[in-house]
Amino acid sequence: MKVTVNRRITFNAAHRLNNPAWDEETNKRIFGLCNNPNYHGHNYVLIVKVTGDIDRETGYVIDLKILKDIVDQSVTDRFDHRNLNLDVTEFKNLNPTAENIAVVVWNILREKLDSKFDLSIVLYETERNFVEFSGK
Ligand code: NI
Repeated sequence: MKVTVNRRITFNAAHRLNNPAWDEETNKRIFGLCNNPNYHGHNYVLIVKVTGDIDRETGYVIDLKILKDIVDQSVTDRFDHRNLNLDVTEFKNLNPTAENIAVVVWNILREKLDSKFDLSIVLYETERNFVEFSGK
């Protein structure tokens, strides 16, 4: 009997989408406003989904307090009010698109969570645009 426990967090961060292998015109054409040289911000919404069996003794899949602390320390504290391109090492050579942010967050949290859990990440970049990554 698998149940999915969700933790929703928000963080504000700046980024710039740019492919250094392309010229300026191509970057502008492909990334539009997101290529703005002086960066721009998003109010990201991150949903961390942890799926597992209900523990017989606690009745929990995972204690949400523990999940909260893991997400706060390893994601929110590192991403919130940062410039993703400049401040977060994972994006030094990786375009900080919603897709890549979701994969980076998944990899960070996968290491912190017991392997008995399935993990999926949903990341909203805007109210209407969001991506999901489940490790495959
Ligand atoms: Ni953007």
